[in-house]
Amino acid sequence: MSDNLDEFLKELQDKIFDDTIRDYGQKAFDRWRNPLHMHPMENPDGYGRITGPCGDTMEIFLRFEKGKVSKASFQTDGCGPSIVCGSLAAELALGKQPDEIRKITNETILETIGGLPEESRHCALLAANTLREAVDRYTKQKATGKDNIQGNNLHGG
Ligand code: FES
Repeated sequence: MSDNLDEFLKELQDKIFDDTIRDYGQKAFDRWRNPLHMHPMENPDGYGRITGPCGDTMEIFLRFEKGKVSKASFQTDGCGPSIVCGSLAAELALGKQPDEIRKITNETILETIGGLPEESRHCALLAANTLREAVDRYTKQKATGKDNIQGNNLHGG
């Protein structure tokens, strides 16, 4: 009985994984199963937090050294594609200066992952907008010399 159940669950999982690879591609699937840079960061230099129209929230944390991103991470309570896109947004920001980060758009993220189905494209927009928010707040905070950039609850998407 238990063996049958285990077998059934294994087949079900394999089918879900196969369907996900078919719909989202191997690259997105791998990143969803093993997302990079998915963790909060204490005292980031740049911080963005946006809740998209879908109701999912993304946070992006940036640390800068010598004007370039030395550490980047993200968190989200969103869907699988939002995990993939947040992970890529953090990865794409690494080693870049603010102006270079501002060139990272939802299209950049989508190209990097090899595209997403139409219904998931807005997840890349959420990641790109949150990254933009993080870098803009870093730049603004640097210009005004204010600390404590974390803690505001921004909405958009
Ligand atoms: Fe909300 Fe993907 S459905 S970010």
